[in-house]
Amino acid sequence: MTQARRRTAVLRREAVIVTVPVALAALLAAAGPAAAGTIGTSGVGDPYFPLAGNGGYHVEHYGLTLDYDPASRHLDGKAVLTARATRKLTRFDLDFKGLKITGLKVGRTVAEYRRSGQELVVTPRHTLHKGQVFKVTVTYKGTPKPVTDPDGSLDGWIPTDDGAFVAGEPQGAMTWFPANNHPLDKSSYDFTLTVPKGRTAVANGVYLGSRTAHGETTFRWRQREPMAAYLATATVGKFKVERYTTADGVQVYNAVDPREAAAAAPVLKKLPSVLKWESRIFGPYPFRAAGSIVDRAPDVGYALETQTRPVYDSAPDLSTLVHESAHQWFGDSVSLTSWKDIWLNEGFATYAEWLYSEQHGGDSAQKSFDALYARPAADDLWAFPPGDPGSGANIFGTPVYARGAMALHELRTAVGDQVFYRILRSWATAHRGGHGTTAQFVRLAERESGQDLDSLFQTWLYSAGKPNTP
Ligand code: TRP
Ligand code: ZN
Repeated sequence: MTQARRRTAVLRREAVIVTVPVALAALLAAAGPAAAGTIGTSGVGDPYFPLAGNGGYHVEHYGLTLDYDPASRHLDGKAVLTARATRKLTRFDLDFKGLKITGLKVGRTVAEYRRSGQELVVTPRHTLHKGQVFKVTVTYKGTPKPVTDPDGSLDGWIPTDDGAFVAGEPQGAMTWFPANNHPLDKSSYDFTLTVPKGRTAVANGVYLGSRTAHGETTFRWRQREPMAAYLATATVGKFKVERYTTADGVQVYNAVDPREAAAAAPVLKKLPSVLKWESRIFGPYPFRAAGSIVDRAPDVGYALETQTRPVYDSAPDLSTLVHESAHQWFGDSVSLTSWKDIWLNEGFATYAEWLYSEQHGGDSAQKSFDALYARPAADDLWAFPPGDPGSGANIFGTPVYARGAMALHELRTAVGDQVFYRILRSWATAHRGGHGTTAQFVRLAERESGQDLDSLFQTWLYSAGKPNTP
């Protein structure tokens, strides 16, 4: 299966199944007591990643200026966050792990801070009032280190032999910039990335240009549409670059490690037609830029749907390209509010692979479903229900991808093709640039179909073990 390649990092390990019965209500309750005070919370209340994100403010924009030297692995950074207080704040947190802070201001005033694990606790000189827009400027330096996720995989700033593979799902953004590190908070970004001449630094969004002076090249990028921190990249390497604009006006920038170029070329050539096909099914492509970063990063073991421009650890196959492209709608444009809902990303992207195959002379989605359903009850596929993976260690497990896609196929079988495609499209359109929850998806599917789908979703998303009836 193609997912196997994306998840080798995970597959090397035993799945640890921990059942944590925390509902979405608890998520809100967690933000409760402190929400009444003037101290921002250390997390947004995600049951799987309790310290991810922070309460009390929303980041509207990140301005990131980074200088990276692959030879010494030294990073110099400056992050300017433009944020808005969602309540009166005497103190707030950012997520930032490792790297040494050399300066921190709120507005033009030096602010006090302390660090504790991934929490950077900032006490501004002056209390921020509710609704106030404020800037936080953090300067920092050091050697970024990736984080090890609960499933044992690495994410964040991952050094390669010619630069760094930079991917942040679910936690790694905080290894290279101070962030409100949860998909609940989405922001625009500007990147100014300086690397030694001969290397290329690739981020999200539109390429604004580059300039070389004194043996260094600075690349500028702008991501205008809101983006979750985990989808940011600033991947560095020796890359062959290709740029063009599609017939629909999307600006494409591909960066390919020359060692992967021959294998990548026939697949990357299909990007415009894949995006066009997906736009026909899911609705208009949600961003003004697109592209691919094909790196050689043997320590990584997965690709990531970095916004506008997925990053691949090696030349992707076509179904991986289809998968990461589908995430631009499902996961990137429509974001999670809680990591527990990860099937809304992975189940949808996997089902896009099945649909692509079905409509391009390959196996039908029914055949993909049947092949999976034939697996015995003891198979990993049935280890936990996709709507309730139980812990952060399981969010990239087989049930999330494969049984998540099976749940969509069951929906399609129940409502028929016409209604099914309308559901996919309304989901992407109604939540474009924002967020969606599983409960909202179920409601939308019921509204569009006029059917009661509770038991279908109960069976396919939430019931333990192999469902009895397909
Ligand atoms: N979301 C990625 C995909 O399916 C996979 C992924 C991202 C991943 N980070 C990971 C898989 C960490 C395992 C571990 O395209
Ligand atoms: Zn995926």
